[in-house]
Amino acid sequence: MSSTDPYARVAAAYDAELDHAEGDVAGYASRGEGGPLLVLGAGTGRVSGRLAEVRPVTGLDRSADMLARARARGPASVRYVQADMTDFDLGPFAEVIAPNAAFAFLPNRAARAACLACCRRALSKGGPLTLDLLVPSTLVGDAHVPERLAWEGVADGRPTRRLREVFREPVAQRIRLVDRFWVDDTLYAESVLLLHVFSRDEVEWMLEANGFYVDEVLGDHRGGPLREGSDRLLVRGRPL
Ligand SMILES: C[S@@+](CC[C@H](N)C(=O)[O-])C[C@H]1O[C@@H](n2cnc3c(N)ncnc32)[C@H](O)[C@@H]1O
Repeated sequence: MSSTDPYARVAAAYDAELDHAEGDVAGYASRGEGGPLLVLGAGTGRVSGRLAEVRPVTGLDRSADMLARARARGPASVRYVQADMTDFDLGPFAEVIAPNAAFAFLPNRAARAACLACCRRALSKGGPLTLDLLVPSTLVGDAHVPERLAWEGVADGRPTRRLREVFREPVAQRIRLVDRFWVDDTLYAESVLLLHVFSRDEVEWMLEANGFYVDEVLGDHRGGPLREGSDRLLVRGRPL
């Protein structure tokens, strides 16, 4: 999987940059329903590791490099599974979440429908699925934003910089993020992330067309409503 995995080789930097992000973890903890939880696109275990303190957690991701990091982080009680979120048969779970835009990586309708079918099967007891997505305003702005410094820090003890170049494709509803990682002042890796940007209406239609009803739409992890200026599009569905 590594050759097509945009996170291959950059898991340490991802972890160093995002490990401290707590807002979404607190939101999932306070609104979670308890019982076994499946985290789709679990990555380095940032969310799953913390939620495992209060409930049984399984983390699924296709990236071997991200999962290696997650397993090393622990706790050992989290079960990590290397799989594609469009093709898994796990469960049953009380709840499924896809944090930090993991669902937005799915490239087309067929992949999204396949993932939702797997989620329905995994949620055989009727629990919720929460998708954390980019807001539509992500597509507003220059079509091309030249490379600029996005993060600087220390990853695995080495000085690391992430430079990001952005390409907006509003007709395709897609954003292409080209991240170049410099370690010890040497270009170390390039990672290209292609993310679909959903509208609220589109997510609701998608869920309804795939056997879910929508019971909550939020604009942030503190429970605020979706409005102009919201920073996330959080949609929770339940199997019909
Ligand atoms: C932005 S990261 C989010 C990681 C983690 N959820 C977090 O919040 O820190 C997106 C993750 O989704 C995973 N991913 C993307 N497409 C996937 C797919 N089709 N199946 C499984 N994992 C996928 C990537 O490997 C990556 O670890």
